[in-house]
Amino acid sequence: MSRANVQLDAQGNLKHFLTIDGLSRELLTEILDQTEGFLGVAEQAVKKVPLCRGKIVANLFFETSTRTRTTFELAAKRLSADVLNLNIDTSATAKGETLLDTLRNLEAMHVDMFVVRHAASGAAHFIAEHANPHVSLINAGDGRHSHPTQGMLDMFTIRQHKGNFADLCVAVVGDILHSRVARSQLLALKTLGTGEIRIIAPRTLIPAQAQALGARVFYDLREGVRDADVIIMLRLQRERMQGGMLPSEHEYFQLFGLTEDRLSTAKPNAIVMHPGPINRGVEMDSQVADGPRSVILEQVSNGIAVRMAVMSMCIGTQNLQGQGETGV
Ligand code: CP
Repeated sequence: MSRANVQLDAQGNLKHFLTIDGLSRELLTEILDQTEGFLGVAEQAVKKVPLCRGKIVANLFFETSTRTRTTFELAAKRLSADVLNLNIDTSATAKGETLLDTLRNLEAMHVDMFVVRHAASGAAHFIAEHANPHVSLINAGDGRHSHPTQGMLDMFTIRQHKGNFADLCVAVVGDILHSRVARSQLLALKTLGTGEIRIIAPRTLIPAQAQALGARVFYDLREGVRDADVIIMLRLQRERMQGGMLPSEHEYFQLFGLTEDRLSTAKPNAIVMHPGPINRGVEMDSQVADGPRSVILEQVSNGIAVRMAVMSMCIGTQNLQGQGETGV
């Protein structure tokens, strides 16, 4: 069975969300459509729907996170699930308990879903393969491999602003080599039929299989963003770099940092995105990060609705249409 198929149940419904690799355009579009429906929950007086009432979601973050962990927690709470946030630093992991033993103990508490971030690429697949069959697993970022909900919230934000992917030129700029976010974005952009996908980076930060990702490669930022509709900036993943892949952050900014001047070659209505955390003055300057074309904080807000969509598709007891605006 392929890794992608592990994510689907016998009826072809989403059971785990581990990677965008191998998922169909129809399924990705369904996630985006479901997300649309969940946006309104944030406007309700009682910001809750009962789609996951009685379910238990455990957040297991073995790596640091601000946006992903908190938006998963909010998403689960808005779906009326009970949420466990395991503090890894004060958990028995610190006493040598293995990942699988931690999972077995949480499964004994009848957890229905694990949301896992881990430094090891493949950790989410490993857990999904070993978890109790009734348990769903969502990958909240594993090593440099995959961050599928980030990829989908980025696609949702692009669709909100630009509509049809087929007419778009999307440029992804920065540390493509080490970025699980870039891999998820590029797979999603390709699957959704994006007109032109570009990657822009120093030669040392372009993966060998860049062409296979369906992208045109640029080594010059001004050329790469020319006439682009969407520009996605990425953080330098210093924690995953070995050796001197870059002379200095200052030099990187001189060549690949996004400034108002360099942005001027993009389409006048181009949007600027970043998954966060931003390093101001390294991948972009503050004028751009806080400027009128930046949709960076919209990405964060959209993260809640996207995660509600994915979680409810995996463990929800009913769909949103059947619920209306239901407080609990
Ligand atoms: N975009 C992202 O994954 O941010 P966090 O590391 O804060 O979760």
